[in-house]
Amino acid sequence: MSSENILIAPSILSADLSRLQEEIASVEKDADWLQVDVMDGHFVPNLSFGAPLLKGIQTKLPLDIHLMVENPEDRIEEFLALHVHHISFHAEAIPDTASRLALFQAIRDGGATAGIAINPETPLEAVSDVIDKTDLLLIMSVHPGFGGQGFIEDVLSKVRSARSAHPFLMIQMDGGVDEKTAPLCREAGANNLVSGSYIFSSKDRAKAIRTLRGE
Ligand code: DX5
Repeated sequence: MSSENILIAPSILSADLSRLQEEIASVEKDADWLQVDVMDGHFVPNLSFGAPLLKGIQTKLPLDIHLMVENPEDRIEEFLALHVHHISFHAEAIPDTASRLALFQAIRDGGATAGIAINPETPLEAVSDVIDKTDLLLIMSVHPGFGGQGFIEDVLSKVRSARSAHPFLMIQMDGGVDEKTAPLCREAGANNLVSGSYIFSSKDRAKAIRTLRGE
C-alpha cells in the first residue's frame, strides 16, 4: 500500500490530557484523523472520556470516535452533535445484523461515516453480514481498554483476508502500532493506522507520523 494512501490517526488516549489542545496541535499538521477512544468501564475494563472532553478542544482534524461501549446506539447522538467525522462501534456489542445496519444508518443520518470494530479474538466471519455495508472495518491488534500494549501479530491474517476480499474497504488497525509493526500492517493491507503511545511518546511527532505512513 503506497504511503500517500495510508491515513494516520493519533489516539488521544495516550496524549497528556492536561495539555490536550497543545498535544493535538503537535500532530495536527501531519496527521489525517484524530482518534477518540470512548470507554465505558463495562465493555472494556477502563473508563476514559466522552463528548464533554471534545467540547473543550479545537481541531481541523476529522474526529474518529471509537466506541468501546455497551449499547453504542445510546452514545452516538452526543458525538454527532459535535459534527464528528466518523464513529466506529464494536461488533461484540451489537451481535445482530438488523441492529448493526440500523446503527450504521443512524450514524450516517447524523452526518458521519460508520465503522464496525472487531477484537483480536473475534473472527472476520463475525462481521460477514455487514462487511459490504460498512464504511470502515477496524481490526484491533490489542485487547481494547488501554494504550501501550503489545501488538498481536495473529490479527494480520484477518487483515490480509479482509483486504483480498474487499479491495476498496477502509481497513483500520489499532493497538501497538509503531515503527516496527506499521510496515506489517501496511503490507497486510491496512490503510488507516491508529497509534497512541508511539506518536505521543515521540519527541518528533511529525517524523513518527511519517514513519507510520511509510514515508
Ligand atoms: C486501546 C485503544 C487504542 C490505543 C492505541 O483500547 O483503542 O486506540 O489507545 O494505543 P497504542 O498505540 O499505544 O497501542
